[in-house]
Amino acid sequence: MKTFNISEWIKFRSNLSKDLSIGFVPTMGALHEGHLSLVKQSLLENEITLVSIYINPTQFDNSSDFKNYPHHLESDISILESLSSDNLFLLIPEYKDIYPDDYAFKVSENNFSRILCGKFRKGHFDGVLTIVLKLLNISGAQKAYFGEKDFQQLTLIKDMVHAFFVPIKIIACPIVREQDGLAMSSRNKRLSEEQRRQAPEIYKVLNQNLNKEKAEQYLHQYGIDLEYLELHNNRKYIAANIGEVRLIDNIDVKEEHKL
Ligand code: PAJ
Repeated sequence: MKTFNISEWIKFRSNLSKDLSIGFVPTMGALHEGHLSLVKQSLLENEITLVSIYINPTQFDNSSDFKNYPHHLESDISILESLSSDNLFLLIPEYKDIYPDDYAFKVSENNFSRILCGKFRKGHFDGVLTIVLKLLNISGAQKAYFGEKDFQQLTLIKDMVHAFFVPIKIIACPIVREQDGLAMSSRNKRLSEEQRRQAPEIYKVLNQNLNKEKAEQYLHQYGIDLEYLELHNNRKYIAANIGEVRLIDNIDVKEEHKL
């Protein structure tokens, strides 16, 4: 699999035939089946798929979360190579190249980004929207794939693309879960064995009809700290901390969920 920095990718892409379709999957690495579902979907729908791996510093509101975010570049590359596709390419940007302005310019949304995760992680969505706009422009893709796992992020990205007339279609992909219901996440790699056993309680709470107080009590028994549990536009959102690890999940309340 060919790996590029930004200028190498832009050069490579400019030499591609203009009618080749490009699908783009931005990630922060530590790849798991959730990420791979996006990559596979893109490989099915496009002639070329570009995956990016970049742990974006500007979207972390907490420096220890940034420091402890899992780095697995070597195994990520082998995971992508195991898909054995000649149509798969990897972009690995560097800070100085992707932030030539040193984050002097940013995309800011002042409505939906202020609730749910945005309320607890100041500046988080500015960082996400800014990096995603840069990456979408660099990719030159016609379609970009995002997971419903981060439903608020997905919604904000769709809204940004609409607001700024970015010529790219945003494709939403369903949440991939472990057998016990836990939504796959790179952060799951940071859980201890015991924490990993407790973590599925987050999804269980989401599927029960508990108010915030009851949910808080319920999760507390498992050593989990509820951050928020909220209903917004027919979707129930949750964020909770297990030790140092912050996990999020969401469900469509109109759909039935089997545990
Ligand atoms: P990251 O957490 O690495 O996720 C990359 C993409 O994979 C996101 O679109 C996310 O929603 C999707 N994803 C993660 N876990 C998933 C799961 N269990 N099921 C389905 N999709 C899943 O989200 C980011 O990175 C960053 O904020 C990014 C958009 C790359 C900007 O830095």
